[in-house]
Amino acid sequence: MSMHFKIPSATPGPARKRVRKAVFPVAGLGTRFLPATKAVPKEMLPIIDRPLIQYAVDEAREAGIEELIFITGRGKTAIVEHFDTAFELEATMKDRAKALEILEPTRIQPGNLLTVRQQVPLGLGHAIWCARAVVGDEPFAVLLPDELMIGAPGCLRQMVDAYDMLGGNLVSVLEVPEEEVSSYGVIAPGWRDGALTEVKGLVEKPRREDAPSNLIISGRYILQPEVMRTLETQEKGAGGEIQLTDAMARMVGDQPFHAVTFAGRRFDCGSKAGFVEATLTLALERADLAADVRAIMQKLLDRPGADSVPATGLGAVLASAA
Ligand code: UTP
Repeated sequence: MSMHFKIPSATPGPARKRVRKAVFPVAGLGTRFLPATKAVPKEMLPIIDRPLIQYAVDEAREAGIEELIFITGRGKTAIVEHFDTAFELEATMKDRAKALEILEPTRIQPGNLLTVRQQVPLGLGHAIWCARAVVGDEPFAVLLPDELMIGAPGCLRQMVDAYDMLGGNLVSVLEVPEEEVSSYGVIAPGWRDGALTEVKGLVEKPRREDAPSNLIISGRYILQPEVMRTLETQEKGAGGEIQLTDAMARMVGDQPFHAVTFAGRRFDCGSKAGFVEATLTLALERADLAADVRAIMQKLLDRPGADSVPATGLGAVLASAA
């Protein structure tokens, strides 16, 4: 396996428990995508022909995850059904001599998909805490499906490689312009070496002037089970929600905490512009679509008045993709 990191002291650590479980919090309300998300979970919105949750599950499996834990809520059953066997569909496809391989990524080893209900969406920290019984006494990964991470190896794979050397807790980070930090969890960095950064503190949605850096947490975590005990007593934080970032911040100092800068691309599919950018970018990279999509974009850009689209909106995405 190739090493993506330079470590200050690359001595082998004590035998560590492997990261076998991943938690996918999917109980949020998806209010930024209403009315689309009134009856359809945000995590089922497709980037071309794969729902967001499928990208996250594929990334987790590539990283060696065996057990998938979905934190669900009202109206989220479509996510679980997506990973079920659709007998009628498969029988009809077989009758019509259609290939079934397209469904392969949706197949789960029986017993490896668990759902836990979060009755009220009280925040990401609370969603993770809901998984405490099924996580048990093991390190676990957390993947937020609306953060689409594209890379080879994938983001969680890169983090598991770092975990194998460092143990403890890890978050994935990326640099953003300073004016964007107040929308995210931000780390206070210590030493930096290649893709690795020591985490000395974390703060959720700081004011720009209070932010300890412009390194934001980008939706992937490897956490030790002790975080569940910290979450138990976690007060509400930014936005009146029980924040995972606040619980992690309380663990810094007691446990190793590092950040991995993801070598790859990230799309914030929880925002409309990020979702469109992901769709266009991935379409332009697909052999079956690239030529058609490029032609469509060109036509749109050549259209009279195309220049009048504000440069910060969809126009900027189209212009940079053309
Ligand atoms: P977001 O804040 O991005 O998702 O939470 P949201 O609340 O669904 O979306 P908006 O802001 O209203 O548009 C990040 C992830 O955490 C989950 C969400 O489903 C999403 O995957 N989440 C959030 C929960 O599972 N429970 C919660 O209480 C909050």
